[in-house]
Amino acid sequence: MKNLLGISFLNKKDIISILQTAKAYKEAFYKKTEFEKILQAKTIINLFFEASTRTRTSFEIAAKNLGGQVINIDMKMSSLKKGETIKDTVQNLEQMHPTAFIVRHPDSGFPLFLSKNTSIPIINAGDGAFEHPSQALLDFFTMWEKKKKMEGIKLSILGDILHSRVARSNIFLQKMFKNDVMVFGPQTMIPPQIEKLEVKVAKNLKEACADRDFIMLLRIQLERKSGKSIPSLSEYYKYFALKEVKDAYILHPGPVNKDVEIASSLLYCPRSLIPEQVENGIFIRMAIFHHLSNKV
Ligand code: CP
Repeated sequence: MKNLLGISFLNKKDIISILQTAKAYKEAFYKKTEFEKILQAKTIINLFFEASTRTRTSFEIAAKNLGGQVINIDMKMSSLKKGETIKDTVQNLEQMHPTAFIVRHPDSGFPLFLSKNTSIPIINAGDGAFEHPSQALLDFFTMWEKKKKMEGIKLSILGDILHSRVARSNIFLQKMFKNDVMVFGPQTMIPPQIEKLEVKVAKNLKEACADRDFIMLLRIQLERKSGKSIPSLSEYYKYFALKEVKDAYILHPGPVNKDVEIASSLLYCPRSLIPEQVENGIFIRMAIFHHLSNKV
């Protein structure tokens, strides 16, 4: 595992190992045990070409917990503004001997492209509608914590499946463990032939929410394509949003559009795991560095 480009580049053994490492890091954190400084004297560079709060900050905290130093490149102040290409920027930064680049980009496949043009490990922090592997890993870690099992999980994902990198990474991961995945959303947001991935499509919200362990809501990406795939936000809320929950736990990668994909009253209800997902992001990202550091 030189790079982390997507869940589709990992196998089941990698995923179990990352989750077990994250569990050990979380236990050590709560026991106030000092973490082994596996990134001592190493520099991680955050290259975020798209906004982020959770992913960027938790990668930074994760690296610092392991003794690393983190550089956040301010894209607005970089030489990209003078016409330098991203490829040239990365090849220049490579000369400063970083240990890894954490890359978020609006274009699908951009981290993969960079990985072919640099010898420095690339960690995909979300690319277009392709993958968001660290998010799917932290989601799975949160489910594992609650259910104490990795198989036999019933998950529904609601929202814009077609344009969601979070949905793609989660589906790839869950199907590796043969888990029961159902999706629901407006027809314009469901990828054609999704059944080929052994994913069921619910007929209505009631079916999507019945007898599920977890219900994952996706953000309606108002700034991107999903905003154009629905007639109105109020109609989306009426037919597709989660407004009540019984036995299932609620997941959402964030940021949340309150009262669009989920009723705001559910955000911090007892069944919501949204705060745990954010916290677990740190331990999963420490585990990702741990796995990469064995190979760099
Ligand atoms: N879940 C997620 O990727 O959040 P950020 O955009 O805040 O990083």
